[in-house]
Amino acid sequence: MLEHLDRLPPDPILGVMAAFRADSDPRKVDLGVGVYRDDAGETPVMKAVREAERDVLARQTSKTYVAAVGNAGFNEAMERLVLGEGHAALASGRLRSIQAPGGCGALRLGAELILRADPHAVVHVSTPTWANHVPLLSNCGLRLQPYPYFDTATGGVAFEAMLGTLDRLPARSVVLLHASCHNPTGADLEDAQWRDLLGVVRRRSLLPFIDIAYQGLGRGVAEDAYGPRLFCAELPEVLIAVSCSKNFGLYRERTGALQVLSATPTAADAAISQLMRIARGLYSMPPDHGAAITHAILTGEGLRKSWASELDAMRLRIQRLRGAALQRLTVTCPHKDFGFLARQRGMFSYLGVDAAAVRELREQHHVYMMDDGRINIAGLRMENIEYFAEAVGKVLR
Ligand code: LMR
Repeated sequence: MLEHLDRLPPDPILGVMAAFRADSDPRKVDLGVGVYRDDAGETPVMKAVREAERDVLARQTSKTYVAAVGNAGFNEAMERLVLGEGHAALASGRLRSIQAPGGCGALRLGAELILRADPHAVVHVSTPTWANHVPLLSNCGLRLQPYPYFDTATGGVAFEAMLGTLDRLPARSVVLLHASCHNPTGADLEDAQWRDLLGVVRRRSLLPFIDIAYQGLGRGVAEDAYGPRLFCAELPEVLIAVSCSKNFGLYRERTGALQVLSATPTAADAAISQLMRIARGLYSMPPDHGAAITHAILTGEGLRKSWASELDAMRLRIQRLRGAALQRLTVTCPHKDFGFLARQRGMFSYLGVDAAAVRELREQHHVYMMDDGRINIAGLRMENIEYFAEAVGKVLR
């Protein structure tokens, strides 16, 4: 029966990760998969995570199941992290959360919920969007449609075109938004643009589905959540998929949550009952370890401070790398404007090179990036920026 299955090519992002690992050249530079790296090129376990993990293991007396929604303390702490202490939605009785296996699990749960609410729903995704958004949302049967987002000429958001398209959508259309550190472009909405977008979402009765996977790595923890905080204060319904992979460095622990704001507490109860049933039919219950660690960090004063300062250091390092890459590329590629690197936020930017250049960078210079030229800035190191910039200069010459 299985003999007839076609062999598929590797996932584009995970394929680059595997190719990099297989390269034995000591000069190799990994700008592919979106994981944070430090100056030594490592993705270390955060100090607060190490400490919280020790506490969690010392206190744990059982491995029995936690609950259908996962760790309730984690869910509540994540609501406060995303929305901010004192946010009106927290006390409204309209917000519910379910822990999920990573941000991917949260996105899939959200997609399944949308499908149950409206089997004909269309989810509108930015052009471009994270490659894995497409299978995560469409594999359950939802239809996807693109909306304009990235302006290749400026490296910013094509905001007029985006608003113009969203302003023509039928009511109950779903709009997938990136809260911050847009993946793959690094082009984020400004606060004023979130406010303008709110007007359109409200006027057209759209359902915002916000993916927040990089909170704290763009402008700051509160600043990166400006959109979700505004929308949850002003709208009847919002879905938020949260990931702890990057800002807690918990990648392999698959830690995330889906937060659902409904129009009434009764509707919120119905939504969470649906989500528990959906999760039960997919994987039953989420893994606990990462959620227990995150909960311990967010509710322990010392651990939280340590986590917040390490996260600040990560963000500042990314910003420094952006500045340094801009400076070096300006020298090695004087004919090309890389100013967008300093204006964009988070780990990703498009380098603005074609597929042939990407291939040459990989094959001749051991510099790995996505085929579309997306680079993970955090994969650079101060000591190899020069090598990277020279390689780009040679390829673009
Ligand atoms: C990325 O975009 O590289 C990250 O979000 C990792 C992944 O799973 O794709």
